[in-house]
Amino acid sequence: MAEEFVVTPWEVRGRVDYDKLINIFGTQPITRELLDRIEGLAGELHVLLRRGVFFSHRDLDLVLDDYAGGRGFFLYTGRGPSGPMHIGHLIPFILTKWLQDRFRVNVYIMITDDEKYWDEPGMSIRDVRRWAYENTLDIIAVGFDPDRTFVFHDIEYIGKLYPMAVKVAKRINFNTAKAVFGFTGSTNIGLIFYPALQVVPTLFEKRRCLIPAAIDQDPYWRIQRDMAESLGYYKTAAIHSKFMPPLTGLEGKMSTSKPETAIFLHDDPKTVRFKIMRYAFSGGQPTVELHRRLGGNPDVDVSFQWLKIYFEQDDAKLKKIEDDYRSGRMLTGELKEYLVEKINEFLEEHRVKREEARKLINLYMYDGELARRMWKEGPWSLEEIEEK
Ligand code: TYM
Repeated sequence: MAEEFVVTPWEVRGRVDYDKLINIFGTQPITRELLDRIEGLAGELHVLLRRGVFFSHRDLDLVLDDYAGGRGFFLYTGRGPSGPMHIGHLIPFILTKWLQDRFRVNVYIMITDDEKYWDEPGMSIRDVRRWAYENTLDIIAVGFDPDRTFVFHDIEYIGKLYPMAVKVAKRINFNTAKAVFGFTGSTNIGLIFYPALQVVPTLFEKRRCLIPAAIDQDPYWRIQRDMAESLGYYKTAAIHSKFMPPLTGLEGKMSTSKPETAIFLHDDPKTVRFKIMRYAFSGGQPTVELHRRLGGNPDVDVSFQWLKIYFEQDDAKLKKIEDDYRSGRMLTGELKEYLVEKINEFLEEHRVKREEARKLINLYMYDGELARRMWKEGPWSLEEIEEK
């Protein structure tokens, strides 16, 4: 029998059955047909789409219709700055950047320092604001278009978000919030209000919003979709990714609070090597002899899965690694070394871009074309706020 699993915005436990999750959440699978349409419009298919890491959606077909029909759309995603980012956190941002490049659309990135202050008992305002800054550098390093991207920190930008948050909050009652997010009598009321805020950026433009995020964030989009039309806006669309599995095995998700499960963006080459050699769950046999004879199992081998998710983008090379590992020609140690090399290459490049981001941060937050407009005019006119 399949093991029990849990997916909420705050917790992922057990071995997630993604087909089942599509049924439980009521989302749609990303079909071959839809992938072909994206490829037709974008001219190529990103590896995260090709490999099925993004596996589910809401209204992605309508987003493509809007694009093809000249109505356009916009992108929204975010990060809760509770500490350093790991490579799993980057997945939605990588696809968001690709979508921005291919479709030339605006991107809004919400950094929820308020959410993490409310959610993490040990964090001070200073802590969350510092992580908001540090995480923003990692996000900018992904390479968004500075004139079409706006990154904002809730505690700083709240004045501009608040008029719409007021309207959204009035449309969510406590029973719904409790049922969707599992709030209890001891949840602080900051967190209880917070879902209203996470909905607000989906209403930044009078066009369809598309949200790339892991599927844990979907409960917010369900709430949004129940009220958006009553406010005169589109129901948001979403494209959902699976979780980057922890190093230690395919259950749950990579987690900041368990450093042995994650590779952080700041891990140096030695640490990366140590963690992978020591912790990466292996589908290999206990001895070399047995491995040569019986072969390994790439389906449960975390190193292979990480190569498949993102780190080996060449389909032919990936296939050869899979065949060699399954047949026993490739040993676990060799597979791990290859992953170490790939991740260190990726992180080396990331570190360089992150340093450059220190000089660019103002462009994304205040001075770029979109950022300037969002500060000066705000997302809505007075008439729009007074409507409905
Ligand atoms: P946060 O900081 O928990 O996560 C940031 C983004 O990373 C995704 N994610 C993962 N993706 C792949 N593998 C993993 N192991 C993994 N862990 C997390 C999350 O789904 C998310 O996309 N409340 C949000 C912040 C937020 C937001 C948004 C996120 C505000 N607005 C709009 C997405 C879209 C949060 O705390 O994310």
